[in-house]
Parts: sequence; structure tokens; C-alpha cells
Amino acid sequence: MQTPYYLIDKTKLLRNMEKIALLREQSGARALLALKCFATWGVFDFMRDYMDGTTSSSLYEVRLGRQRFGKETHAYSVAYGDHEIDEVISYSDKIIFNSISQLERFADKASGIVRGLRLNPQVSSSSFDLADPARPFSRLGEWDMAKVEKVMDRISGFMIHNNCENKDFALFDRMLSDIEQKFGPLLKRAEWVSLGGGIHFTGEDYPLQQFAERLKRFSGDYGVEVYLEPGEASITKSTTLEVSVLDTLYNGKNLAIVDSSIEAHMLDLLIYRENAKIEPNAGEHSYMICGKSCLAGDIFGEFKFDKPLAIGDRISVQDAAGYTMVKKNWFNGVKMPAIAIRELDGSIRTVRDFGYTDYEQSLS
Ligand SMILES: Cc1ncc(COP(=O)(O)O)c(C=O)c1O
Repeated sequence: MQTPYYLIDKTKLLRNMEKIALLREQSGARALLALKCFATWGVFDFMRDYMDGTTSSSLYEVRLGRQRFGKETHAYSVAYGDHEIDEVISYSDKIIFNSISQLERFADKASGIVRGLRLNPQVSSSSFDLADPARPFSRLGEWDMAKVEKVMDRISGFMIHNNCENKDFALFDRMLSDIEQKFGPLLKRAEWVSLGGGIHFTGEDYPLQQFAERLKRFSGDYGVEVYLEPGEASITKSTTLEVSVLDTLYNGKNLAIVDSSIEAHMLDLLIYRENAKIEPNAGEHSYMICGKSCLAGDIFGEFKFDKPLAIGDRISVQDAAGYTMVKKNWFNGVKMPAIAIRELDGSIRTVRDFGYTDYEQSLS
């Protein structure tokens, strides 16, 4: 197959799905796929059996969730416009407003569906200011109990997203206790609470049983139905970005240029200044793997190989499902990676290819 392409491996995806299904069973919580992280609908038929539905960040996401995934469909957005709210409501089972002002503006229109409000507990597990929902002056949710109190008759639940890439159950537990302290009286009056995403509970050493028990206790103590919105946890380690070496050069370091670009195809690596993962990353030959865009810092990272790289060699960039395909772009007109699926029987099929027309049609 011609590179570049994202390769979603259903056997690997299944491992996450089975953990999610187990957690749902043991905790009673419902799990909604966060489409902002992963919206590759070619595998929704597969994921649907293990999850309860989707949650969204915009009109287009909620529509995709309703039409391609089905089941329970939550709408949330930092802000909705007057021109889109009716359509959003038409696709949603629940709508969660980010602010009291949005709630007041649209609550009547949304009176036929379940309504909620985002709360901001002003504490998070994020180590990046850029992604910290609890950063100073954050616009993400309400935190003033007295103000929220006044609109309780218009909502039946809350969404609280303050876990970010949180692998640490003890930290989750502490932050949930903090939420209970801060918002306890409001939570007692709610029928449902979504605890958002950012909890890496499908990771290898995560204490799933303890997590399930904690969620169950929270649900029991407040009499609420609990939701989770796993994005990254749903698809972690399921997908690679397959690339080929186009050129090699020596510039004081061995460099290999590949037919992809982190700026265009794995943008979060650039935003958060992280290295890509290439396995096994062992051997005597060290190379800086570089993207083919004109950006000087378009670099996947430095990795070890057991032999010198040559033009045409294939490299698999690991963990390429989350916040990649949803963020890819046409910078430099670099060929957008195709999307392929490895089925459970090992066969691979390309489900989407992108060509010049897609590039041209993305502009005018
Ligand atoms: C409200 C909300 N829900 C769910 C998620 C998904 O988070 P993750 O992909 O880290 O699980 C996010 C991520 O930003 C979010 O903002």
C-alpha cells in the first residue's frame, strides 16, 4: 500500500473496547466516545457494541455522532450560534451548555430534550497551560454555586471535565472528592453527571476495579447516573501512521525525511512539543525523523534503528489515533494520509484515500 496512511488495528482497538465494556458493567457508568479526539466513523460499527454513544463539541460532531454512531448522543459546545441551535437539538438526546448565559438563551428551544450545564471545579490534572480547563479565567464552565443554584430548575445534570491525560487513579479520586466538596449540594439535586474525558483507564496498569468502585460510590452517594467521555482512552495504542523514507542526509546528525509531516498529520506533537513514538527504538543507528513540510521544526523525533535507513524504508509511528485524523490539514499540500483498517482476521482494507481534488476543494 502506498504510504502515508493511518492504520487502525481492530485487534488493538478491541482491547480498549473490552475494558470500557467491563468498566460499564462494573460501575454502572455510561461511556460516550468523545468525537473531538477520534471521529473516524469507519470503525463506529465495531465500537458501537462496547460504548453507549458519543459526545460532541460542535454541530458537525453532534450530527456525525447521531448519524454515524447512533445510540445516546450528547451535544456540548463552548458556544452555539443562533443559526445552528435548532439543528443541534434535532440530533441530540442531551444538550450541555457551557455557560448560564447560553443556557438561558437556548433553554426554551431545548425544552424537549435533557439539559445540563458544564461546571468548572477550578482544579485539573493538566500539565499544559494550553490544555488546562482550570486555567485562570477559563471560559470552560461555571463555578459560582450561587449563580448555578438560580438555574437549577432549567437543568437536570452537569458535565465536569477536569482530567487531562490522567493516568493516576489516586489523583482522579482526590479531584473527584474535591468536586464533591465544592459542588455536593448541587450534585445531590442532579439526575446525571458526566465526568468528561481525560482519564486513562484503559492503560495497562490502571486499577480498573477501584475506578469502577469509585464511580459506583459517587453515583450512589448523589443518586446520579454517571457518564464518562473517553476520547484518548477509547483508541489509545490502536493506530499507527505508516510512512516511508524519501531521503536521507547527514548534517552532523543522520536525518531521514519521510512522506508525512507532524504539522499536517500529527499536529498535537508539535503543539505540545512531544516526540512521536517509534518502536522498538533500539539499535546502533540513530536518526532524526523529519517531516516533508517546509517548517524547520517539522520533526517526529530522534530514534534508534538496527540498520542504516535507506530510501523506501517503512516506518510505523505509534499511537496515531487520538487528535490526529481530526486535526489533519493540507499544509504545504502534503498528501493527506489514507485511512486503513486492519480487520480482526489480519486483512487490511483502505477505507478512505485523499487526493488532489480534496486538497483543491478544501479551498476556493
Ligand atoms: C468536555 C470534554 N470531554 C471529553 C474530552 C476527551 O478527552 P480525552 O481525549 O483526553 O479522553 C475532552 C477533551 O478535551 C473534553 O474537553
